[in-house]
Amino acid sequence: MKLNLAARLFAAVLSAAVVVAVAMGVGAHLNLNRDFLGYLNEQAIGRLDLAVPSVTAGYRQQGSWDFLRERPDLWFRLLRPAPDDTRVPITERPPASATPAELTGASRRFTLLDAERRRIVGFSSPAENAIERAIVVDGLTVGWLVLTPFEQVSYGAEKRFADAQERTAWVVGGGAVLLAAAVALWASRRLLRPVRQVADATHRLAAGDYATRVPEEGAADDEIGRLSRDFNQLALTLQRNEAMRREFMADVSHELRTPLGVLHGELEALEDGVRQLDAAALRSLKGEVATLHKLVDDLYELSLADVGALSYRKAELDLREIIDDTAGAFGERLRSSGLALQLDLPPGPLPAFGDARRLRQLFANLLENSCRYTDAGGALRLQARREGRQTLIDLHDSAPGVRQEHLPRLFERFFRAEASRSRASGGAGLGLSICQRIVQAHEGRIEARPSPLGGLWLRVELPALG
Ligand SMILES: Nc1ncnc2c1ncn2[C@@H]1O[C@H](COP(=O)(O)OP(=O)(O)OP(=O)(O)O)[C@@H](O)[C@H]1O
Ligand SMILES: [Mg+2]
Repeated sequence: MKLNLAARLFAAVLSAAVVVAVAMGVGAHLNLNRDFLGYLNEQAIGRLDLAVPSVTAGYRQQGSWDFLRERPDLWFRLLRPAPDDTRVPITERPPASATPAELTGASRRFTLLDAERRRIVGFSSPAENAIERAIVVDGLTVGWLVLTPFEQVSYGAEKRFADAQERTAWVVGGGAVLLAAAVALWASRRLLRPVRQVADATHRLAAGDYATRVPEEGAADDEIGRLSRDFNQLALTLQRNEAMRREFMADVSHELRTPLGVLHGELEALEDGVRQLDAAALRSLKGEVATLHKLVDDLYELSLADVGALSYRKAELDLREIIDDTAGAFGERLRSSGLALQLDLPPGPLPAFGDARRLRQLFANLLENSCRYTDAGGALRLQARREGRQTLIDLHDSAPGVRQEHLPRLFERFFRAEASRSRASGGAGLGLSICQRIVQAHEGRIEARPSPLGGLWLRVELPALG
């Protein structure tokens, strides 16, 4: 039989309570007789010591034990503690009424023996382990007062007391079991409910329902609270990743579809004879293929960077030289865009440790963006300088810039500040994501801000050598 967690917890607490209650009951039952009998016997011994003077006084008054042999009813009167006036003959004292000490039944277990240890009156069969007190009159032992200890609780009030004790023990034990059952039931419901919720939610999550969440049960700081919070965090992460994956797939297919559509259209036009297969048509076709090529290359690079497989061949290099070379290669591109570049480099080298090819790719991407997204007649400023343990590279350009709220998103894949404008210039929105990966691989940082020139300001911070 398979029990669920709640039933198992309930069974464990309940069985522990039952074992404790039974042990308590049995223990109480065993102890009660022993302790209670001990108490009764102590009381009886006290009573015995009190009775010795009265019995002695009785003998002295009567001169022998014969009065008791003749009238055994006087026995209990005699046992009462000696009255103040011992001259009142025993035969004239009022009959014994029950005093608290007699409620224990002790006097019923007293036996009076004569000097020769023959029984005169009282408990008929004194035991071996009897407790004895000598009755001494004028230096002579005239008899023995003997107490036979209790061996079991058998007299009215004592018996009732003992029974009541036992009953109470069983009632308390039974109550404890019931209480334990209630606590176990409550605990198994209350404590395990969140666990069950997490288990159910995990099941839904595994089935692909990433929107599933569990209530965070008063945000308790215990293991269950942590479990619920962690579960929700996990579900949120999975949900985000899933959304990103979908978005990415949609973006990729969209980006691929555009140049493919253009290619297809141009090829159809050529086939139908609408267009002539001349040098211009070929250039246009090659342009579309190049766009596709770049897109696929960029995606490949980003995916390699994601799995940490983008290889870097790092060596000591001079950033000044790399920046100078890259800017030099953009001469023609800048002229055709009608842009003026102001290059502001220090006279000495800017040593760094990195992959020259990747760093060239980084600066080329940034310059390419500035050429693409700066209005003709504008200006670019490229500065590099050493500051402490860092090399700072700043690229400013003139209008247009990027709206403040878009700045933090520039480095996201497929993000384009103005989709329509950039679409015309053919960017897919991957360039800056790649730049960020390259900078991060060099333990550096890249940030975008509005430039005082009116356009965008990109700052790259790379660790300097030496
Ligand atoms: N210098 C700049 N001035 C103004 N806007 C810019 C500049 N650089 C980037 N942007 C904006 O940021 C967006 C993202 O740039 P990114 O380089 O990542 O992609 P892209 O240039 O559109 O495409 P890709 O670089 O993949 O060909 C651009 O689409 C553009 O809107
Ligand atoms: Mg770009």
